[in-house]
Amino acid sequence: MVCLGNICRSPLAEGILKSKTNSNKVFIDSAGTGGWHVGNLPDERSIKVAELNNIDLKNQKCRKFEIKDFDKFDYIFVMDSSNYNDIFSLARNESDKNKVHFILSQNLNVPDPYYGGANGFSKVFNMLDLACNEIVEKLNLPKN
Ligand code: 4NP
Repeated sequence: MVCLGNICRSPLAEGILKSKTNSNKVFIDSAGTGGWHVGNLPDERSIKVAELNNIDLKNQKCRKFEIKDFDKFDYIFVMDSSNYNDIFSLARNESDKNKVHFILSQNLNVPDPYYGGANGFSKVFNMLDLACNEIVEKLNLPKN
């Protein structure tokens, strides 16, 4: 799960997909294309909306996307077209490129809630919750 800062959207996507899948069988992580917040906890507004939905994000630590993530993961889900372009431009070959997908269908963007209020975070939560349901079904992931 990739966004810009790895503190708002992708930590939520990581927590939500983890809550729906068997962690012994599926490895899920998140990262940012930017490195400003490396080592930090997710944004407190993401932590809060997750908590309201019984998902704990406080075990997460912000990190920056690395080239070796192309080797570690089968699927790379991005939140918006800017993330898509950033990750796509790092791809070394066709195999890397084929791993990069928009998390929302029809290549829609998950809006960045960073500069808004709590309402933006619950909207993002709901979008990602539906998107993760689709991922579980489409990829036939082992359920929790
Ligand atoms: P995110 O939101 O990409 O959903 O984690 C952002 C968080 C921080 C910044 C940008 C986006 N920032 O510029 O610090």
